[in-house]
Amino acid sequence: MITQSITANPIFEFATDVRAGLTKAGQKELPSKYLYDEVGSALFEVISCLPEYGLTRADERLLSRHCREIVELLPAPVAVAELGSGSGKKTRWVLEALCRRQRTSYYPIEISHAALAMCERQLGDIDSVSILGFEREYLDGLLEVAAQRRPGQHLLVLFLGSTIGNFDRHAGLNFLREMRQTLLPGDSLLLGTDLEKPRTQLIAAYDDELGVTAAFNLNLLSRINRELDADFDLKQFQHLAQVNEEARSIEMHLLSRCRQVVNISTAELLVEFDEGETIWTESSHKYSAEDVFRLAQDSGFCCRAQWIDSEWPFAESLLVAE
Ligand code: AVI
Repeated sequence: MITQSITANPIFEFATDVRAGLTKAGQKELPSKYLYDEVGSALFEVISCLPEYGLTRADERLLSRHCREIVELLPAPVAVAELGSGSGKKTRWVLEALCRRQRTSYYPIEISHAALAMCERQLGDIDSVSILGFEREYLDGLLEVAAQRRPGQHLLVLFLGSTIGNFDRHAGLNFLREMRQTLLPGDSLLLGTDLEKPRTQLIAAYDDELGVTAAFNLNLLSRINRELDADFDLKQFQHLAQVNEEARSIEMHLLSRCRQVVNISTAELLVEFDEGETIWTESSHKYSAEDVFRLAQDSGFCCRAQWIDSEWPFAESLLVAE
């Protein structure tokens, strides 16, 4: 795989974001995108296998069962861009179905170098697929993919795994609107969304018995220790998963077990924590099937088809740019 990367100054950017999030008045927070360094990405792969976390399996089941139908609904020829390539397992179903009808250009877009490398390992063997990865923020990468488009070629954007759920609802809508600006009428978006489910099921999925999600969350602090020369004592923080009924989301926090001060050298920052104070690290919003139709309409798409998993409430929706 050829990879296009930009190396601005990722450590400076990380330090700036950490400083902004931990000095905010009120609730301290850290952007969830920093959960995915090499260790975090590997831990997320393990989460995907946990019995309590059915999201990824539902996504995979829907794609394995319906990939032919999905491909039949697409215009030809089509190139595929994927936002957040993940392990590539889900994508394989779509790419293999497409390759039965055409040679396919596949453009994974990821901010994580490790995730792009994993994607190549997983998908590099498919005949008739050429892969060009972009190490970029999603919309920047998509702009570059759109610039590669040949005359008459359509785009299929894959935004799977309910990553949209990690945006707050307003930001999710704006994100789809911006994506729509980059696309042409007739281009498609295959959108995976985790659907609402009972509270106990949600808590179990985000606070599993083995403690993998806890490790995934705490790794953010060890990443700050590693990359920003900080002295977080991980034993003094605890993973917390809590449902936010109003936002229809589940939130991950890191709770300080005691009053403490942490030094983050590269960010030139000393942060004080009260006992019980939390850092909000991620929200995972849940949708209804109808929400997706509305979201599509409000962002310049039309929901052409939708498939819902029968074991774990999850929807795969095919949106067409109008
Ligand atoms: C990547 N994203 C859709 C996952 C989710 O369920 O929100 C991330 C995750 N966080 C904890 N477990 C999984």
